[in-house]
Amino acid sequence: MEPSRTRTRLLLVLLLVMMQPRLSRAYVGTAASYSPPYTPTACYGNDPGQFPSSNLFAAAGEGIWDNGASCGRQYLVNCTSALGSGFCIPNQTIQVQIVDRVLFLSSRPSCDDTTIVLSMTAFDTIAKFASAVNIMYQQV
Ligand SMILES: *[C@@H]1O[C@H](CO)[C@@H](O)[C@H](O)[C@H]1NC(C)=O
Ligand SMILES: *[C@@H]1O[C@H](CO)[C@@H](O)[C@H](O)[C@H]1NC(C)=O
Repeated sequence: MEPSRTRTRLLLVLLLVMMQPRLSRAYVGTAASYSPPYTPTACYGNDPGQFPSSNLFAAAGEGIWDNGASCGRQYLVNCTSALGSGFCIPNQTIQVQIVDRVLFLSSRPSCDDTTIVLSMTAFDTIAKFASAVNIMYQQV
């Protein structure tokens, strides 16, 4: 094969690889909840427009904070089992938006050192009577 053709093929392969949709996989982790005041946030300060109207938002633990790059990211979260005497609400998956950093919260989360800390609305959608739950989460 002539060299120029080989180069063209290589370029094509490279392009195809780069065009593959990013496969975002699901991870296991833990979630807690937090209550108001929800502002100021580490991502957007006191901006009242930062919260989705669904009230499904969350604060990122250090493992997913990503130096602030996680601000605005959306995650699908479901409950796989509850810690303590609580329980998961079956078949509930929520989509939450990161607006804050757990270390920066003005209210104490229901449990320390979780992967993510959910707004009350978000947490109550996937679990009952639990202070923390095991989750599967996936970036959207
Ligand atoms: C949670 O979601 C994952 C996909 O992200 C799915 O594989 C798993 O079965 C779900 N678990 C529950 C308990 O809903
Ligand atoms: C949850 O989903 C599974 C699989 O789709 C179904 O068999 C089960 O009945 C559902 N449970 C509830 C409480 O909706």
